[in-house]
Amino acid sequence: MRVAIIGTGYVGLVSGACFSEFGVEVICVDKDTDKISMLEAGRMPIYEPGLEELVEKNAHAGRLSFTTELVDAVGQADAVFIAVGTPSRRGDGHADLSYVYAAAEEIAGAIDGYTVVVTKSTVPVGTGREVERIIAEANPDAEFDVVSNPEFLREGSAIEDFMRPDRVVIGTKSERAQEVMRGLYRPLYLLETPIVFTSRQTSELIKYAANTFLATKITFINEIADLCEIVEADVHDVARGIGLDGRIGGKFLHAGPGYGGSCFPKDTLALVRTAEEVGSPLRIVETVVEINDKRKQRMAEKVIASCGGDVNGKTITVLGVTFKPNTDDMRDSPSLDIVAGLQAAGATIRAFDPEGMDEAREIMDDVIWCEDEYEAMTDADAVTIITEWNEFRALDLERAKSLLRAPVMIDLRNIYDPEEMAAAGFSYACIGRAPVAPADPSTK
Ligand code: UGA
Repeated sequence: MRVAIIGTGYVGLVSGACFSEFGVEVICVDKDTDKISMLEAGRMPIYEPGLEELVEKNAHAGRLSFTTELVDAVGQADAVFIAVGTPSRRGDGHADLSYVYAAAEEIAGAIDGYTVVVTKSTVPVGTGREVERIIAEANPDAEFDVVSNPEFLREGSAIEDFMRPDRVVIGTKSERAQEVMRGLYRPLYLLETPIVFTSRQTSELIKYAANTFLATKITFINEIADLCEIVEADVHDVARGIGLDGRIGGKFLHAGPGYGGSCFPKDTLALVRTAEEVGSPLRIVETVVEINDKRKQRMAEKVIASCGGDVNGKTITVLGVTFKPNTDDMRDSPSLDIVAGLQAAGATIRAFDPEGMDEAREIMDDVIWCEDEYEAMTDADAVTIITEWNEFRALDLERAKSLLRAPVMIDLRNIYDPEEMAAAGFSYACIGRAPVAPADPSTK
């Protein structure tokens, strides 16, 4: 079985590496010559745990290669995956499908023999039909089917998610295409991974419904956290108390500074636009989008309040800037709003992130980037944890206290325990849990 993957972004690269690990012969195609040269030299354009090793292993075994030549790659393939970006279109929040349609045009001219064209990119309902129309129009002799096969990979654990998914969704009514797709996912089939065969439109919608539901779940617990702070309840216990109900489930109930990343913000907005357009508005998702946007901005106010209501002239340490740990991705990260809000209030920011600083430097101005968490805390008036990297979970609190001008911590990911922080002498603020007064140093 031979596969061509168009687009070596996050999804394309992870899918290509994982399919080759399944024993499939994979060629990854990208127009970006620098990226292809990098990959050929064994260097990864993104940070994803385990990816480099997987690429190296399969490239070495001759099952995985990289090229800028789409025509050759598509001509030899049994299945061609479109894995190009679908960013939010500026101004209206619709998914920008221009890269998908351009890829379809190019694929059309290169198809040789029966080929399954798969949309792996997250695309709104009806995109598969348009891809089919484009290919048929550009090459009326082409023998092909267009299938929707959305990805459910989380950055930071994408390889595990690909190799051991909860399910695989395949949208096509063509039995011939189903056969090819079944062959590709054979190792998962043998592991008894549920494979949902459905129509193309349903498959396209499943992807958006899944991401939107998860974003809603996070937003729900974030609002419950706000309520907890007022009524002196503990959001961790609420999440556990409701999550143990099998109908609710405990995952994605971690309260925090609001969801970010390249998927939830873009996909929630795109689904809202699609629903609006067809006259079946999704009020609940509209509200989720609005609450989450405001929440990210409100987190700066929370930090300011925890610093006595004024940060003008103060220095604030920011630990973690990526939208979540184990990635270098800064897209729609809550840190962008929080840092901007603190700077607007007159604060100087000293920051550290284990992987995200190269990306962050490009888009965040006037931040003092530090070598590690302790350098970042030196002579600062407070420390804010925005991303829950493992290295921030066990800070040397005594050392932190000796470096900081004041022992103030705002933990937007709830990775510390309020009582332990109080006992360590910190004025500690977190999300959805009652504050505990710091221990009086004189009673130590
Ligand atoms: C998300 C989905 O989880 C994947 O299934 C999907 O394939 C992917 O989008 C996509 O569409 O490509 P990802 O964006 O990598 O994956 O990250 P998540 O782990 O879902 O986290 C998204 C955001 O929600 C992060 O900012 C995270 O901090 C936040 N989050 C997550 C919470 O605030 N609380 C939680 O309990 C979980």
